[in-house]
Amino acid sequence: SETDKGIYPYYMLKEIDEQVVVAHTLAQYYFDEAGQIRNIDDKIIEAIKAADRLYIVAAGTSYHAGLVGKRYFEQWTGIPTEVHISSEFAYDQPLLSQHPFFIFLSQSGETADSREVLDNIVKQGFPSLTVANVMNSTLTREADFALPLLAGPEIAVASTKAYTAQIIVEAILAHAAGNSHVDLKNELAKAAVEMQVIIDQKAAFKTIAEEALRGHQSAFYIGRGLDAAVAVEAALKLKEISYIQTEGFAAGELKHGTISLIEEGTPVFALLTQSKTAGLVRGEIAQVAARGANTVIISGKSLAKKNDAFVLPDVNELLMPLLTVIPAQLIAYYATLDRNLDVDRPRNLAKSVTVQ
Ligand code: G6P
Repeated sequence: SETDKGIYPYYMLKEIDEQVVVAHTLAQYYFDEAGQIRNIDDKIIEAIKAADRLYIVAAGTSYHAGLVGKRYFEQWTGIPTEVHISSEFAYDQPLLSQHPFFIFLSQSGETADSREVLDNIVKQGFPSLTVANVMNSTLTREADFALPLLAGPEIAVASTKAYTAQIIVEAILAHAAGNSHVDLKNELAKAAVEMQVIIDQKAAFKTIAEEALRGHQSAFYIGRGLDAAVAVEAALKLKEISYIQTEGFAAGELKHGTISLIEEGTPVFALLTQSKTAGLVRGEIAQVAARGANTVIISGKSLAKKNDAFVLPDVNELLMPLLTVIPAQLIAYYATLDRNLDVDRPRNLAKSVTVQ
């Protein structure tokens, strides 16, 4: 059944693998044969177009997916987009624009922090959409509109396929509401093929995880732009299941304080997929390496250099997060196995947090 581990030792590994199928499922659901959008109510598109600002509100990994989606909405719709942590927004509501539109991202649709925000904004009369994996959940029922992530049940506490599904649905929605000049159906199909290529090289990440992280209690993920957005999710994956304290950082900000934490052997994973900032990130990698860091560079093919630890296939740069996160998920998985910990059930965490 869908909720059976089957041949897999852990749900997390199964769910990492399933990301490719989910990508294809979403493409089939949201695009027709001719590449035109379907299954998104015109009213949703009209509501987005009528907004002067979009507010993405979410928690945890869903919040991190929002950080990626912001770029799609801003680039393709031209509407300024803010991303907020629901537990903060709920009690410290920022000054809103005249015509805000709210997008809630959630795997479960039940996160209490996000429900609190939705309650608040419904009372204020603002329009909202929930994008969730569990349809018929509280967040999907109480928003004006809802769209499905179609990722199938996600059981492992560490979210994987919901994240990539959220990124894909955000891209599709931004494309539908805007003018992306991108053949998104085709670009997503290419990305799905390349996701599989990475997943097929799992063993490489087992080696990387063991070599870079064994015996270490702290690590960093760095990157700029979309790679900075993925870096925070990559760090969350690693820390929440392996208990290695990991910070995801905007690479250019390291020099303003955090670089003092770098010691001989500190593992620093660098994500390098954005051409505009690749040279700068190379410089930042050299700066931490000069202070003794063990740098592990995960780069896009067209930006790769000889000693990079893993080279990702090239897809549309905006869609690179769909690829970049997979090494991070697998590194987290194998680092956790290496510590003999329960990958699917990290201590102190719940799959869905229904209390504030
Ligand atoms: C919990 C889970 C996280 C998840 C977060 C938000 O903390 O452990 O994996 O990202 O809730 O959940 P949601 O269901 O709203 O995406």
